[in-house]
Amino acid sequence: MVDINWDSLRAAARDAMQHAYVPYSHFRVGAAGIVDDGRIVTGCNVENASYGLTLCAECGMVSELIRSGGGRLVAVCTLGNDAPVTPCGRCRQLLWEHGGPSLLVEVNGEPVPMTEMIPHAFPEASNFTNPNA
Ligand code: THU
Repeated sequence: MVDINWDSLRAAARDAMQHAYVPYSHFRVGAAGIVDDGRIVTGCNVENASYGLTLCAECGMVSELIRSGGGRLVAVCTLGNDAPVTPCGRCRQLLWEHGGPSLLVEVNGEPVPMTEMIPHAFPEASNFTNPNA
């Protein structure tokens, strides 16, 4: 069982946020997650001229998770322009894939389980079996 230090998670998200590439929205986002082996993975948002193909900070964080050896996300914190923000719908699905129902996401300073962030998430109650859930 990994210890969740929310302060270091926030600090890691803040650090990642400084690296954001946001020439269009000017909204810097940093995400940080603790993995079940104790390591911390981070990501920042990376925009592009198409707007719609923007990579959210959580996408970068999940890329880093996989690149650095995988594992399950235990807790995640996201900051936007230095204030708490919650992951968008698409990113909640990504987080569900790599953390499952027990992953805790910080919402206004409180840890909220993924079952509340995305109730009845796919592939719950379907014939599709997710080997990672
Ligand atoms: N953004 C994230 O990085 N994560 C989210 O969960 C929500 C939105 C980014 C995308 C875009 O670069 C900026 O915030 C404004 O929408």
